Amino acid sequence: MKNKQWLLASRPKGEPTSDNWRYQEVESQQTGDGQIKVKVEFISLDPAMRGWMNDSKSYIEPVQIDEVMRAGAVGEVIESKSDDFARGDKVYGNFGVQSVAVSDTKGVHKVDPALAPLERYLGVLGMPGMTAYFGLLKTGLPEAGETVVVSGAAGAVGSVVGQIAKIKGCRVVGIAGGKEKCDYLINELGFDGAVDYKNEKLRDGLKKQCPKGVDVYFDNVGGEILDTVLTCINLHARIVICGAISQYNNTTAVKGPANYLSLLVNRARMEGIVVFDNAKNYGQAAQEMAGWIQQGKLKAKEHVVTGIDTFPDTLMMLFKGENFGKLVLKVEHDE
Ligand SMILES: NC(=O)c1ccc[n+]([C@@H]2O[C@H](COP(=O)([O-])OP(=O)(O)OC[C@H]3O[C@@H](n4cnc5c(N)ncnc54)[C@H](OP(=O)(O)O)[C@@H]3O)[C@@H](O)[C@H]2O)c1
Repeated sequence: MKNKQWLLASRPKGEPTSDNWRYQEVESQQTGDGQIKVKVEFISLDPAMRGWMNDSKSYIEPVQIDEVMRAGAVGEVIESKSDDFARGDKVYGNFGVQSVAVSDTKGVHKVDPALAPLERYLGVLGMPGMTAYFGLLKTGLPEAGETVVVSGAAGAVGSVVGQIAKIKGCRVVGIAGGKEKCDYLINELGFDGAVDYKNEKLRDGLKKQCPKGVDVYFDNVGGEILDTVLTCINLHARIVICGAISQYNNTTAVKGPANYLSLLVNRARMEGIVVFDNAKNYGQAAQEMAGWIQQGKLKAKEHVVTGIDTFPDTLMMLFKGENFGKLVLKVEHDE
């Protein structure tokens, strides 16, 4: 069976280009004892992939040159030499950017296509959903009546953060690029307000939308937006550092928050999170989130692009704000 793969060819300086990738078609590997072969159906495209391309110390090893690019994915087991999986099972795993994966089943779990479409297990019911759930509830500690601001608000993590904060009784304001995304936050997801950082002055928008100041800020973007929100925080505010997409393609030093003394003045706390620290509790969180989806309190949106051949360009949509919801790549198979 033919396997279409994208490998890391070189490390980018700044924005990744087509030179950083190599495409190849090879015969898929044999399935060994304890292994499964998976026909990959949807591949998760995540901002974190940019960090994995760097040869620098992080919470996870960098992807090596000539290695298949790392990615979460969902698909169907087509061969099994494992006691835990059968042919036909739908599974999630770290299968990489390729159309067929052979896995030793480490980190692989079954997903139920009857409960939700397969791609949703890469979004709300997957890693971004878990990031939102644990980042907000364990580190943001929102209380009813408080004001929660989230950036990257129309994206995979941000849209879930805002909706969970609403479920918890907070006033929720999203920061997103463009009118369409801001309208969606208010009209579809029930946010109380939105600030279009591309078309209005962020500080003025925040002052208007957060008349009582900001108690929790869930930061997905870093840079100037983080700096500006710091000028609007309340006493004992919690700032969740989830990501800093505005800085991932920098060729100069990461821009840190000049206004950090606001933390001192307000006895506030800023704390980083890594979703994987909560792996033991994903099951409980997914169950609660599935309940909210069923009750209509939590909406999911995936942005599906078809064709594994489009991978390099499709990944860049994240950095241009061209994705609307969780970005996934749909893999087509020949037969
Ligand atoms: N800590 C963890 O464990 C963890 C886990 C998952 C994700 N993350 C982080 O969470 C963040 C969101 O990830 P996601 O998967 O949900 O992505 P996403 O929000 O679905 O997509 C990225 C969005 O970021 C916004 N963006 C891009 N460049 C920007 C810039 N220069 N300034 C401001 N906004 C910009 C764009 O939205 P606009 O159109 O609104 O600009 C874009 O659509 C990322 O920083 C990611 O690294 C962290």
